[in-house]
Amino acid sequence: MDAVRNSASAHSPAARTLLDSLLTLGQEHLFAAWSPDGEDSAEKAAFWDQLLRVEENYPGGIAAYVNNARSLLASAREGANPFEGFRPEQPDCVDLADFDAEYERLEALGCDSFDKLGVVLVAGGLGERLGYSGIKLELPIELLEETMYLSWYAKHLLAYEQRMSEPKAVPFVIMTSGDTHEKTVACLEANHYFGLRHDQVILLKQELVPALMDNEARIAAKGPYAIQLKPHGHGDVHMLLHRSGVAQKLKDQGIEVLAFIQDTNGQVFHAIPAALGATLDRGFSFNSLAVNRVPGEAVGGLARLVKGEESMTLNVEYNQLDPLLRDTVSPEGDVAGPNGFSMFPGNINVLMVHSEAYVEVLERSQGLIAEFVNPKYADEARTSFKKPTRLETMMQDLPKLFSSAQKVGVTIFERSWCFSPNKNNVIDAAAKHAKHSPPESAATAESDFYKEARRMLTHAGMEVPVEAEQEWLGIPFTPGPRVLLHPSFAVSLAEADSKISGGRLEGTLILEGPDLRLKDVQIDAGCALVVRAVPGANVKISGQLSEGGGTEVQGIPEEELAESSEALRMRGYRILKGAYIEHRFDEPGVYDLVLN
Ligand code: UTP
Repeated sequence: MDAVRNSASAHSPAARTLLDSLLTLGQEHLFAAWSPDGEDSAEKAAFWDQLLRVEENYPGGIAAYVNNARSLLASAREGANPFEGFRPEQPDCVDLADFDAEYERLEALGCDSFDKLGVVLVAGGLGERLGYSGIKLELPIELLEETMYLSWYAKHLLAYEQRMSEPKAVPFVIMTSGDTHEKTVACLEANHYFGLRHDQVILLKQELVPALMDNEARIAAKGPYAIQLKPHGHGDVHMLLHRSGVAQKLKDQGIEVLAFIQDTNGQVFHAIPAALGATLDRGFSFNSLAVNRVPGEAVGGLARLVKGEESMTLNVEYNQLDPLLRDTVSPEGDVAGPNGFSMFPGNINVLMVHSEAYVEVLERSQGLIAEFVNPKYADEARTSFKKPTRLETMMQDLPKLFSSAQKVGVTIFERSWCFSPNKNNVIDAAAKHAKHSPPESAATAESDFYKEARRMLTHAGMEVPVEAEQEWLGIPFTPGPRVLLHPSFAVSLAEADSKISGGRLEGTLILEGPDLRLKDVQIDAGCALVVRAVPGANVKISGQLSEGGGTEVQGIPEEELAESSEALRMRGYRILKGAYIEHRFDEPGVYDLVLN
């Protein structure tokens, strides 16, 4: 041990203290293969650097991590049921799936409250299921203009700002990780922050936590002078927002609601205005956006769990929900209600949190949210693991720390309006489709992107005949008409309604700019209209477009797939672009654009 002590002393006082702590915690095995004093000095210094970083990044340091792990591992070993004694009830729901008058009212309220909103994007995930070589945020959500996810999100924040009576930047927090940080920064810089202000974007990087090899929470070594580290989960976002002081700062700046979104769900901003309205209107401290869920569907169900005076609204994994229902209130398990859906709406992990409650809970918990551990045991007695495990935390578990004074609700939206992520590679996506599960792939995300833009047109009264569904690589895709409505044109259904009347779309339509109006516009099949206008360029568009070239979806032959870009390989098709008819209005003014 002298060699170890000497190396710690030579490194820093903090390393000395840490060594004492590690020995008290029963972690002496980490030094079993250390060479004698004076040898491998650089490697030994790197060891202290690595562990001090872990020590610094976890509230309470490695001692707190190991102690938390020991108690969670003990419960896991006993097979403790976290829902013991709880009775599931339907949560407090606002049902906006039908786009009814209540939808309109709450959407309008949300649009009037953009100055109270901050957006938090969790983007530290590895994306193993998708298998893309870069960061998911740089993937194109659609192929008409190849808009990156990050760009699409930024465009919404800019559009929200434009619609405020006193414009101010919408705070945009992005959580990265060691796997995504450098590339996210590079992407922002290469694209001039997509027009956002640099100080509007707050990057918080999550760190890894030690891997644990047994029930005593002994840290797994990686060679003689390093430890194994693993991701701690997206619940880290709460810890980082607390420790950085950002949550408090945003609250002090008058940000009332933080919307937590994921890296590849391009649909989410459709639902943000009405969800923001619902959060404020109903006084929710926490509002989970959700979709109607067929009983048994492999998506977590949101339920209010009640035990005596205690109650909490939480996401319950679908494989835990059914047995819990059978053991308590419903011998048939999870069954459909009169509308054909489960009483427990499907969680899409888009969360709205009121900053008042948030800061209070963060203060109390130091941002450590309901950690759990999920070891894969190698033996029946649960004494050893197949591979090292670690503590994890999920952002949606925040309400576990809420008091009964804090109101937790659920707002239900039509599914593809609010949720269509790109999570799976083509093989897995096709297999999911074959099993009637949502493929959640690049193709379905793009198909839904056009579908919901078409909804904005048809809601406003335009006729849009839809082409028949096709399959590429075994994944369904509805090719057209293809529509790209930039957020600068409309951020809500009501805004699209106010700008479009009548007309018919069979071809392709791209609109960018806040002051465009469409009156009885007709675009024939095989044609594409693009109109871009700066703010203040009031363009009234009418007439029929029957000339120029449109866009066409074409499957990529198998022999060409290997040479195609990753964005195309994960789709199996490309979009051929003809000679668009494009009109640009770069100066403010009043214009009459008559198509012929
Ligand atoms: P996903 O479920 O998509 O997980 O995460 P993932 O890690 O990105 O992908 P797989 O499971 O390896 O295929 C949901 C959201 O949470 C973020 C992701 O970036 C995504 O936006 N996330 C996940 C984090 O920010 N940190 C994490 O540790 C895990």
